[in-house]
Amino acid sequence: MNPGALVDLDRYPLADPELARSCKATLERDNVLLLHDFLRPGGRAAMAAEVMAGLPRSYRRDRTAMGIYTYGAPNAPAEHPALGPNRSAQAILAGDLIPEDGAIWSLFKWDALTAFVGAVTGCPKLYRSADPLASCTMTALGRGDQHGWHLDDNDFVVSLLLQEPESGGRFEVVSDVRTEAGIDFDRVAAALAGTSSDIVRPELRAGTLSVFRGQRALHRVSPVDGGRSRLIALFSYDRRPGMMFPREVHLGAFGRTLAA
Ligand SMILES: [Fe+2]
Repeated sequence: MNPGALVDLDRYPLADPELARSCKATLERDNVLLLHDFLRPGGRAAMAAEVMAGLPRSYRRDRTAMGIYTYGAPNAPAEHPALGPNRSAQAILAGDLIPEDGAIWSLFKWDALTAFVGAVTGCPKLYRSADPLASCTMTALGRGDQHGWHLDDNDFVVSLLLQEPESGGRFEVVSDVRTEAGIDFDRVAAALAGTSSDIVRPELRAGTLSVFRGQRALHRVSPVDGGRSRLIALFSYDRRPGMMFPREVHLGAFGRTLAA
């Protein structure tokens, strides 16, 4: 499969240094970069079909934490309202459950896209993660599913929205919840309670490529409504070649580990 045919290169000439420069400036200013209609309709549909075909073998994860998912950072002190219930429910499809020669893997393995992501994120030497399960993963949020409030532990996330739900399933962000001074748990509590007054909702559409910096910004995907699932593909990169995720990540995300 020719990955260049999946992307609207007329709109987004990936090798153009001027495009990368302006995208980098947007990401540095907003912590989010949205490239709408990045995928051509046929490319988006082919990728969505690969996810739908793999879904019966996906890992269903439905958990409710008390407080946000902080990945190692301290959570709120005891009794704080920021320790309220926080549900996260979705189907997760590991990279080894979609065809190796299909549209999603072809796009992920395309050097032109890796180079563009590196230029936009200010990492001139950027490598695709080598993890067969977690370098390229897909999630599906069906009716009632949501991705709970959390802070990321990686520098940035590259995602492609492959299918929009009929309603709900909005990407919601509360900026600068984590700073050098720590995590602002009063703002966390407001987000968990649904009383936050400073939520922004970057508009992801089917076919949008997004680059998001989520270490400082609290974020979630709100509950999906309607019968059409919200499908997303996530691409993982690193500054070093050969990056593999730890066993605990595999177990937590996919319910299994790599075969020995
Ligand atoms: Fe995140």
